Amino acid sequence: MDFFLFLILSLCLSYNGVDAGREISMNQQHRILSKNNFNTVFATDDDDFDCVDIYKQPAFQHPLLKNHKIQMHPNLSIESTASSIRKTFRLQHHDEGCPPGKVPIQRIKSKNVIDAEFMLPRHADVFHQFTKEFPGQHFATMYTRAPYSFMPYHGARATVDIHNPSVEMNQFSMAQIWVQNGHSSDLNSLQVGWGVHPRIYGDNLTRFTTYWTADNYQKTGCYNMMCPGFVQVHPTKRLGQSFKGISIIGGEQWVIDILISQDKSTGNWWLTIYGDEKIGYWPKEIFTHLGDGANYLEYGGWTYNSPSGISPPMGSGKFPSNNYTVACWFAQIRYVNEVYREDDVHRLNMVKYNTDANCYDLKYLFYAGKIFGHTFSFGGPGGNCIT
Ligand SMILES: *[C@@H]1O[C@H](CO)[C@@H](O)[C@H](O)[C@H]1NC(C)=O
Ligand SMILES: *[C@@H]1O[C@H](CO)[C@@H](O)[C@H](O)[C@H]1NC(C)=O
Ligand SMILES: *[C@@H]1O[C@H](CO)[C@@H](O)[C@H](O)[C@H]1NC(C)=O
Repeated sequence: MDFFLFLILSLCLSYNGVDAGREISMNQQHRILSKNNFNTVFATDDDDFDCVDIYKQPAFQHPLLKNHKIQMHPNLSIESTASSIRKTFRLQHHDEGCPPGKVPIQRIKSKNVIDAEFMLPRHADVFHQFTKEFPGQHFATMYTRAPYSFMPYHGARATVDIHNPSVEMNQFSMAQIWVQNGHSSDLNSLQVGWGVHPRIYGDNLTRFTTYWTADNYQKTGCYNMMCPGFVQVHPTKRLGQSFKGISIIGGEQWVIDILISQDKSTGNWWLTIYGDEKIGYWPKEIFTHLGDGANYLEYGGWTYNSPSGISPPMGSGKFPSNNYTVACWFAQIRYVNEVYREDDVHRLNMVKYNTDANCYDLKYLFYAGKIFGHTFSFGGPGGNCIT
C-alpha cells in the first residue's frame, strides 16, 4: 500500500507539481492517457501471405487434428466492460484479406534469410525461463503467484504498447503474454505478443508473434503457423503480420489489445485482438495440460542474445518510467477466472521477475481507471548483462 501511495504521489509531483491526492491524480493520469490518439492497426502493405483454403490450412496436417471439426465462431462468455471502452480508441480501417473460404497464412521467407535452426525445438531462443541452464535470456515480467484461488485460469489479456527495439541477427526482443500449465518436460505454453526476431522473420520489423508448445519446447510447437497447430479463421488479421504504427518516445503511442481465452464448450484456446477480432485458435487436442485451463500467467518483456554477446534493448529501450511516452507499457492486465469471467489481475497475487537489473526492469505503476486498468512499465537498454 505504501508503495502504491508513493507512486501516486510521485505521479502528482511529476504531472501536477502538487500533491492533489489519489483521486485527482488518477483523473489527471486518465486525462493525459485519453488525450492521446491510440492507433491499433496492422500494416496493410505487408503482403507476405498466401490465401489458403480454410479447410486445408497447416493445422489439419497435425496427427491429432485429423478429425477436428473446425470452430468458426467461439462461444466466449466473457464479460468485459473494458472492451467496449477500448473501441473508442480504435481506428476504423479496411485492409486487404482473403476471399471467402480462404484464410491468410504468413509466408516463411526464403531459407537463406532465415536460419532454419532457430525454428527448431531445443534451440536457445525457445527455452523457457525455468530452463535456467540456457544463458542469454532476460525477462522483465510479472507472473501469477501460486496457488491462486481463481485457478484454473481460462485466459489472459493485456493492451501492449508497440515498440521496435533494434536487434542484431542472433538476438530477439519481445513483449508478450504467457498462458501455461504442466511443468518440466510436460510444460504446455501459449505465448502471444509482439516480437522483433530477425532469425524467424528475416527482417527487423516488429511483428505480431505467437508461440506454442505442448512438451516444454522439445518436439511439439513452433512460432505462429510454422508448424501444424493454430487454426486461422480471420480473413485478414494474421500471425506474423507487421504493425502499421510503432510508438514514438515522447510522441504517438500504438497499442495491441490481446486476449487469449478458452472456449467453454470446446476447450479451444482462442486468440482475439481489440476485443472483437477473432483471429483463430489453438485446438484443445494439441495440448496435454491446457485442456482444463491454465495454472500460470505471465506478462512482460523477453530478450535473447547468443551467449556471451551483448543483450538487445527491451521495450522502448528505456527503463520503466511514469511517463507513458518514454518506456514501453502494459495496460488492462487482466485474466479470465475459473468461471470464465474476465477480471483485473489481483495486484498482490502478481510476482515481479527481473533477471538482470543492470539491463532491464519492470515497475508496476498503478490502477489507471477503467480504461487503462492495471498498468506496468518495463524495458531497458540491454548491454553487457550478467547472465
Ligand atoms: C455458449 O455458452 C453458453 C454459456 O456457457 C451456453 O449456455 C451455450 O449453450 C453455449 N452455446 C453453444 C453454441 O455452445
Ligand atoms: C537488422 O538490423 C541490424 C542492425 O542494424 C542489421 O545488422 C541487420 O542486418 C538487420 N537485419 C535484417 C534482416 O535486416
Ligand atoms: C514525457 O517524456 C517526453 C519525452 O521525453 C517529454 O517530451 C514529455 O514532456 C514528458 N512528459 C511529462 C509529463 O513529463
